Amino acid sequence: PRPLYFDCDTGIDDSVALAYLLSSPEVELVGIGTVSGNVSSATAAENTIGLLALAGRTDIRVAVGAHDHLAHPFHGGAPHVHGDNGLGGVELPPTDVRPVAGDAADLLLRLSHEFAGELEVLTVGPLTNLAIALQRDPSLPERIAAVTTMGGAALAPGNITPVAEANIHNDPEAAALHLAAGWPVVLVPLDATMEHTFEEEHRDALVASGDPLAVAVGGMLDHYFDFYVDVYGRRSSALHDPLAAAIAVGDAVATVAPAVPVVVDTTDGPGRGQTVCDLRGQRLGPVDWEGATVRVVLEVAEPLAPRLLERILA
Ligand code: BDR
Ligand code: CA
Repeated sequence: PRPLYFDCDTGIDDSVALAYLLSSPEVELVGIGTVSGNVSSATAAENTIGLLALAGRTDIRVAVGAHDHLAHPFHGGAPHVHGDNGLGGVELPPTDVRPVAGDAADLLLRLSHEFAGELEVLTVGPLTNLAIALQRDPSLPERIAAVTTMGGAALAPGNITPVAEANIHNDPEAAALHLAAGWPVVLVPLDATMEHTFEEEHRDALVASGDPLAVAVGGMLDHYFDFYVDVYGRRSSALHDPLAAAIAVGDAVATVAPAVPVVVDTTDGPGRGQTVCDLRGQRLGPVDWEGATVRVVLEVAEPLAPRLLERILA
């Protein structure tokens, strides 16, 4: 299996992604870093360790990452979306397992030496830890094989402002550093993730499975479904982080993923946090523009939910 570092703000859809990654034979989770986003980085680490314990995988190193973002302090998270504890109120059994010493950027840098040239990175939260790691060691990209990032919105509307997606908006300065770092980034924005959902039938299957991790995830989705009623008009949930995970694993293949220039808006105006993707070349032929070239996943045609479920329940 390919070694994978996972950076997350665990979170309900982060939890689904984690359950999926743990049952994906193509990759081996060699380390997990947490960042403030849906909850604080400390709570995200507690949640992550609790989930790993349910899966019997506390051998996987977890490091607490950045509490505050590069230019702004952590704002308190998204309890209306993910619940006060980030897990929709689901309480996981307590564990004695502690995060490793050092922060998430340290862990990523260490792993990049341990697995030089092979390590892959998947981010499903704000990009603060990656930015800090890049600042500590600008040669990091030379040792990384691939980076997949859930974040942004190309042509789709934002979900936190009219134009910005939450992971990017939480730390636009970090996202800008990340995209400009010169490593091969695949960006998985709302354009693709909003089209993939879990429905009641999927949630029922998780809850009925009897598997501790699947049951916990099914419980969390109850809360997430309530939030998405206003978005989809039914109890359902977007599969943001799981879609990015499936693309990182190679299990979901993008139907449309052009390599285009992308700029993150770091101004303080209404565009803050927007991922401005230059899709003009798709129609006009090559254009000359300032953004870092990023592969932007605009569409994954094959439904993700059945694949996710199959693996999580396997
Ligand atoms: C992203 O924001 C977080 O709330 C989710 O976990 C996902 O990573 C979607 O905008
Ligand atoms: Ca997330």
